[in-house]
This record gives sequence, structure tokens and C-alpha cells, in this order.
Amino acid sequence: VGYEEVAKLALERCFFFPAAEIYGDALAGFWEYGPLGVSLKNRVVELWRREMVRRDGMLEVDGSVILPERVFAASGHLRGFADPVVECLRCGSVHRADKLIEQIIGALVPEKLSEKELDGLLEKNQARCPKCGGQLSKTRRFNMMFKLGVGAREAAPAYLRPETCQSIFLDFPRVFRTMRCKLPAALAQVGRSFRNEISPRQGLIRLREMIQAEIEIFFNPAKAGDYHKFRLVEDCELSIQPLDSSERKPFSCKQAVKEGLIANELIAYYMALLQQFYDKTGIPGSEMRYREMGAEERAFYAEQGWDLEVRTSLGWLELVACNYRTDYDLRGHARESGRDLAIMDEGKVLPHVFELSMGIDRTVYSIMEHSLTREKERLVLKVPPYLAPIQVAVFPLVNRKGLPDEAKRIHNMLRTSFDVFYDDSGSIGRRYRRQDEVGTPCCVTVDYQTMEDKTVTVRDRDTMLQDRTGVDAILGHIREKVSFPSG
Ligand code: GLY
Repeated sequence: VGYEEVAKLALERCFFFPAAEIYGDALAGFWEYGPLGVSLKNRVVELWRREMVRRDGMLEVDGSVILPERVFAASGHLRGFADPVVECLRCGSVHRADKLIEQIIGALVPEKLSEKELDGLLEKNQARCPKCGGQLSKTRRFNMMFKLGVGAREAAPAYLRPETCQSIFLDFPRVFRTMRCKLPAALAQVGRSFRNEISPRQGLIRLREMIQAEIEIFFNPAKAGDYHKFRLVEDCELSIQPLDSSERKPFSCKQAVKEGLIANELIAYYMALLQQFYDKTGIPGSEMRYREMGAEERAFYAEQGWDLEVRTSLGWLELVACNYRTDYDLRGHARESGRDLAIMDEGKVLPHVFELSMGIDRTVYSIMEHSLTREKERLVLKVPPYLAPIQVAVFPLVNRKGLPDEAKRIHNMLRTSFDVFYDDSGSIGRRYRRQDEVGTPCCVTVDYQTMEDKTVTVRDRDTMLQDRTGVDAILGHIREKVSFPSG
């Protein structure tokens, strides 16, 4: 199924919906997660913690979303984090210059082109305002950070962070020292970032406030070529689309490093770890690719870059930006703060950084799109059971003869261990369908036999088959079904 069906389910079953939706003039690009969305998102984050952070022994921090201006002077965002925009001289609407040209010529236009180059292309292609056909202004740069003033008097200039990772760079010296780290050391963070996008759109896909799960790996550049963990993944297959190719091809990590496609063993190891994480989200590996970024597509701080992308009904979508940031950030913060940020690793070294910057909202959306399946008479969200927002539903078959009391007793018994939903309204078939739609792996039904022999039926979402189980065995049965994969 496609975007429209996911968006409909999201609204109707409270996964996600626009912020301040009761106001007609609510701002675009801000979305809320409802109860089922929160649950799904939290499980995706928990899977990320298990499969990336804990598996690799990373350290997690949780930084402030507001940071002083000097941080972004050092990081380059004050200067470099700006989109090229044009304004309509008739209706005043603002548009991305590069995207306008892309729409006309049907090919990628690097946003890094100079204002003059973009103006040249706009003129050559006779671009007009897409809203009213009016004439357009010259291109200017629009900085996408949200500016704040902190304090009541002489407000100090500050910004909502446009990426979570700046806190990681700022925290690195203390964490490295106090947590007794050695290089390579990886720090991770999940949190909100803010970008004043010119044209936010498509629900969770392009947001002004988003959730990132970022990992920054600090390493000694002299040692990245020979990384001891690499042998764990050397046979792992990645779908890779190099810069000079319009197609993706499978490569083992070993082959990719040997042929110089991936710069070194350390980077290949983390790219494999990330793919292995996504393999557990239920998104088929055949629908994903690592696309190498050319100089024009890369962020200003990156010397090399790979986007991990997923194929969706909206086209290929970036889920994770994997950037080789060199010592760009630590060097910038050392310069601006006057602090020495080098550490000891057989001599003094300013570490280099490889980053895995994951968009959680897009990941949640992509998991939903890839798992939502239309079968003959039902719509089923076939997420892996450990990601299901509701883990078990409990129903009394009918609303009489003591069945509801017994079902409520079971509901109470399960609710401190699982996300449970109790439903006693409508036909039993309809209740099963409602749970299928949101991916609930098990439905427990209390029927007449329960009252005689203390057994219930447990229905499986995918096979729709029902097993009879003793009431005292339900907890173990469900725990086995919804536990995260181990090993
Ligand atoms: N930290 C990289 C990004 O936000 O895209």
C-alpha cells in the first residue's frame, strides 16, 4: 500500500496527526504522535538502543535543545545552513530555488550552486511562481535555524539545534575522560532537532521539528584502515550505489573496502551494523540502498557521505545520513572556545568522526508503509511483533454470563507487563480486524469454555489461527511472542 493509506490509518487510529489541528491556521511541518505512534516510535528507539548502542558498547547522552550562538558559529551552521530561496514579487510566497528548477528540468539541481548560478538557471528555464505565475525575485540564502533570545534582559542569542550531534561534540571531552574511553569511541543521542524548512510536506517525511537518533564515532584517522571489529561484518552484504553509477549492486563489506568503494574498515563496519538494525525493522533489505553522495549533495561538514535510503511509494527516501565529518567539528569548537580538545591515543590526536544520523520519524513512516498489507478481507500492519504498538488485546466473546469480569481480570494481570487493549464492543470478527490494522500480534478471547476450564483462545495476527491456552500460561506465551530478538 502507499502513502495515502498509511496517512489515513495514522489519522484514524491515532499514530500521528498535525499539531494544533483544531486551528485552521496551524503551522505546517509540526506533527504529534498519538498513543499508538508513541508506542511504535519508542519501540523503534529501543531496537536502535539494543542493536546499535548496546551491541557496540556506545555511550548515550541527552543534550539541551537550545544552544548558544557561538556553538553554531563554530559548527558552521550560522554561515552554511542556509537554503537558496526566491520570493514571488506578486503573491509573496517563498520557494526553494533549486527545487523549482528541478521541477522544470526533471533532474537533480545541487543546492550548493551559487546564487548567481541558480539565477542563471531560473532565467534560462523561464521559472515563474508555481502558485500564481508571478515574477520571481533574485535568489537569496535563508538560514534554517530557529533563533531565540535567552533571558529577560539583553537576551543572549541562541538557537534551537538543527542537528542533535553538536551536543555530542561539546560533551565528548568530558565523556571520554570520565567514562574511561579509548578510541574509537562512539557517542549516541536521541532527541529533537529543528529546521525552518521552506516547504515542509508529506506528514512525517519533511518536518520542522523532528526526532533524530545520531551516533558519532570518534576515531584515530591513522588507525581506521585496520579495525578489529571489521571481521564481524566482512561477509555482510550491502546494496551499494556508487557515485559514478545509476544502479545499486550487492557488495560484501570485504569487497567494498578492497575495491575502494568504502573508504576504510571502520566506516564499513558501522554501515553494516546499521543495515543489520534495519533488517530487524521488517523493511526488506531489497528495498534499501546505500547511495554515495557527490560533493554537491553532501552537507558542508562532510568529506564523504553515504545516504541509507529506502524505496517507498513516494520514491527513494533518505533514512540515515552517514557522514565522514573528519575533525571539522572538534576543530571548530576548539578554535571558538579556546579549549584544547585533543586526547591521548598513543600520542596526542584530534579525533576524526564518522556519523550515522538517523531520522526516527521517517523510519517510523517507512516501517508502517512496508508492513501495511492489504489481504483479501483485511488490512494488516505486519510489523515484527516486538515493534507492535499494542502487544495484546483482550476480548470477552460476549458481554454477559461473567465473561467481561474474567476478561477484565486478565487485562489487569497483563497491563503492567505489556501494552494491552481491552475491547468489548462490536462483533468479535470486527474486533480482530481492528487489531490487525494496528499490528497487534495476539488477541486473547474469553469465551464460555473459559468459565469452565480456565482456558482462553489466543489468536495469531498473521495466521489468524487460534490456540487454546491456560489462563496462567498467557503471560509467558505473550512474552515469548513480543520479546526483542536476542543474539
Ligand atoms: N547530523 C547530521 C544531520 O543532521 O543531518
